[in-house]
Amino acid sequence: MKKVGVAILGLGVVGGGTYKILTEKKEYFKTTQGLDVTVENVLEKNIDRATALGIDKSIVATNIEEVVSNSNVDIVIEVIGGVEPAKTFVMKALMSGKTVVTSNKELFAKHWSELEEEAKKMRVGLFFEASCVGGVPIIRTLQEGMQANKILSIKGIINGTTNYILTKMSLEGSSYEEALKEAQRLGYAEFNPTADVEGFDATYKLSILSSLAFNAKVDIENVYREGITSITKEDIACGKELGYTLKLLGIGKNSENGIEVRVHPTFIPNSNPLATVNDSFNAVHLVGDSVGEIMLYGRGAGALPTGSAIVSDVIFAAKHHEYYYAAFENSSKGNKSTKFVSDFVSQYFIRMTVKDEAGVLSKYSGIFAKYNVSIKEAKQIAGVEGKVSTIIITHACKESALRKAIEKIEELEIVYSVDSVIRLED
Ligand code: HSE
Repeated sequence: MKKVGVAILGLGVVGGGTYKILTEKKEYFKTTQGLDVTVENVLEKNIDRATALGIDKSIVATNIEEVVSNSNVDIVIEVIGGVEPAKTFVMKALMSGKTVVTSNKELFAKHWSELEEEAKKMRVGLFFEASCVGGVPIIRTLQEGMQANKILSIKGIINGTTNYILTKMSLEGSSYEEALKEAQRLGYAEFNPTADVEGFDATYKLSILSSLAFNAKVDIENVYREGITSITKEDIACGKELGYTLKLLGIGKNSENGIEVRVHPTFIPNSNPLATVNDSFNAVHLVGDSVGEIMLYGRGAGALPTGSAIVSDVIFAAKHHEYYYAAFENSSKGNKSTKFVSDFVSQYFIRMTVKDEAGVLSKYSGIFAKYNVSIKEAKQIAGVEGKVSTIIITHACKESALRKAIEKIEELEIVYSVDSVIRLED
């Protein structure tokens, strides 16, 4: 039986989950995969963590050199997160001829090219299923299940923390602050929640996923990003009345105009399958030109779900001798020839507070008409003290036109405030 030695760098939540799967299912992998997988080393400074997991001290390394010089280690699993020291450790592992499996989306989104160059040079594998959408096998679906397709779009709820917050705001009418606090209490959101709530985490994932989907290097700089911090419960409630649910979506589209990649809060009709993906769950919807629509759903984070993706990479790496490298020009100059769309076309949800008097509607609708922004639906909610809250849903229009129209509308004397402008996808 083939023996496979692995090392785990970092024993946090994901490292612990990975260790648990690899050790508790050792016999299962022997029978189902014909592989005898052994954890030969863990790199962890906090010995108590190792002890709590029942790990023998003799395999706990305290520096990366011990791990990369261990000839029993074939595969190094990096689950430290962040760029450094993870990047240095991964590079050292690759340079020592070890295959690397990582869950590190930030490292991968920022340094994929360099890591892959080293992996190719050393003829070793570089696997990253766990970097995007946790336990959901989206990377392998893109690499192995969709070859017959030109992928036209990828849309997903790819951040569980923000999905939990928006679900709570939607179903319980909580404010953003209340929902964030609860997400922190449950351990979904970090003490500093910026990476999740400002959309950075989703941007890293979308850059990786859309590169694979569209066969072109999509850098994080190519991804438009907007987080959920300015979303109010009023926005969500007004959208709900019109039959829409708000989600932080990662959206990638590939058309003859170029590649369009963006992360932002988005209203979707309640009938859209992504609208029913609640709490901390993730889902990705793909459209391929042969297969049509497919959707994957599951846990995007957590010890065992992310551990599941890591272990599937370990097993894949142990069973395949020809490794996958990007099918596109994966260098920093890779995207020079790729056309990116920045003035995207979308529908919009606009909420504004205006004077409650004759002729108001014709004034702002005149401006929308001037900029060729067509109104699909409008609703007024009676207010107090001569003010009225107005919700407008537009037909698809260019973002640049919409912004110009909003600028002019804000100048109108009958407009108290434009409270929110949120994109909407069908
Ligand atoms: N913080 C991430 C999320 C975990 O909320 O989805 C995995 O990236």
